[in-house]
Amino acid sequence: MINLTLLGATGSIGKSTLSVVDLHPERFNVFAISAHTSWQKMLVLCQKYQPAFAVMTDEHAAQQLDDQLQGDTAVLSGAQSLDIIAAHKNTHYVMAAIVGAAGMASSLAAAKAGKRIMLANKESLVLAGDIFMQAVNDHNAELIPVDSEHNAIFQCLQGGSSGLSKIQLTASGGPFLRTPANQLSSVTPDQACAHPNWSMGRKISVDSATMMNKGLEVIEAHYLFNLPADKIDVVVHPQSIVHSSVYFKDGSTLSQLGDPDMRTVISYAMSHPDRISSGVSALDLTKNSPLEFYAPDYDKFACLRLAFEALKQGGSAMGTINAANEIAVEKFLDDKIKFLDIAKIIEKTLENAKHFYPKTLAEIVDNDQNARLIANQIAHTYV
Ligand SMILES: NC(=O)c1ccc[n+]([C@@H]2O[C@H](COP(=O)([O-])OP(=O)(O)OC[C@H]3O[C@@H](n4cnc5c(N)ncnc54)[C@H](OP(=O)(O)O)[C@@H]3O)[C@@H](O)[C@H]2O)c1
Repeated sequence: MINLTLLGATGSIGKSTLSVVDLHPERFNVFAISAHTSWQKMLVLCQKYQPAFAVMTDEHAAQQLDDQLQGDTAVLSGAQSLDIIAAHKNTHYVMAAIVGAAGMASSLAAAKAGKRIMLANKESLVLAGDIFMQAVNDHNAELIPVDSEHNAIFQCLQGGSSGLSKIQLTASGGPFLRTPANQLSSVTPDQACAHPNWSMGRKISVDSATMMNKGLEVIEAHYLFNLPADKIDVVVHPQSIVHSSVYFKDGSTLSQLGDPDMRTVISYAMSHPDRISSGVSALDLTKNSPLEFYAPDYDKFACLRLAFEALKQGGSAMGTINAANEIAVEKFLDDKIKFLDIAKIIEKTLENAKHFYPKTLAEIVDNDQNARLIANQIAHTYV
């Protein structure tokens, strides 16, 4: 029986993970779960799965859950409790599915404890890629990407990476792919969150609409597959059927295809090197034609350009754009700024933040906080 610690259990990835668990109760035990404030949802999950631990990072929410919960589940509170359940000796696999920079420390704790980390929290690599990958190597942790694109590449490279010439991440182009650039200034948060193919949390949905999500994924791919920016390509593929491709020197290209449903990715991460059922039906190519592919428009989707620039700058630049993006997206979702202001805030934060090469987690956290301050100041000029 595999003991699973599910960080971000109440989110979109958390829900899909639990639906895969439900299909294989003889194989997976929900050992520990976490959420931030959604204690009512956690109460339901605790009643159903009876985990040994439930962490609410928000202390008030933890108290509420503890008051209502009967049974043997221990309720812990605070962000440091995430590290405890991620690194617990009885945890075998960790699904790292907290949204944003808040998920970084617990992913790192899982890496240092040598766990299988199923990494949905791309911010762990964007902020602390060098430190994180070093910890994975030093502690023999097993890292399996839980982003459809990176998981696709991971699958395509199971035969090895000899002769690899480049990888290509596919991007759906989001809800505004065909919206003229001059109409983007007036789009609303609900329009931005209405992704045509994927059902996701609101933050990552906005990131898909700006294509910052693809930019963060380019950085994630750089660390996961140890490739420079010029060997990472992006192609827009509105149907999201081809999840990504790898190109080899001999002219061969391998792609992984499937319906856009994260349960395929999650079940692969949970069962690798085996395959188990995920609840997702087989792909019917005849129902998805034609499959289209386009070069990305780096002027209309400036966030993607900025992410490539940050990767080329290296060091703190990647954490800086991530922090600025988190601030800008939050303000956009709160109706405080316009959609196109997101890229402007990120670009100005990148120009104004100090650029350096962080060596420690403390320096990374410092840079993150500093970039948030700068982004907040810049955002005020747009409110
Ligand atoms: N959704 C997808 O299809 C998808 C695909 C690829 C990668 N990802 C990545 O997976 C991660 C999760 O995405 P999602 O769409 O599942 O997000 P989501 O639906 O917004 O869920 C986020 C989860 O994180 C928790 N959380 C939020 N803020 C937190 C904080 N400050 N401290 C601790 N926990 C916190 C939430 O708890 P509460 O419910 O209490 O707020 C929730 O359980 C992101 O990094 C995203 O980029 C997602």
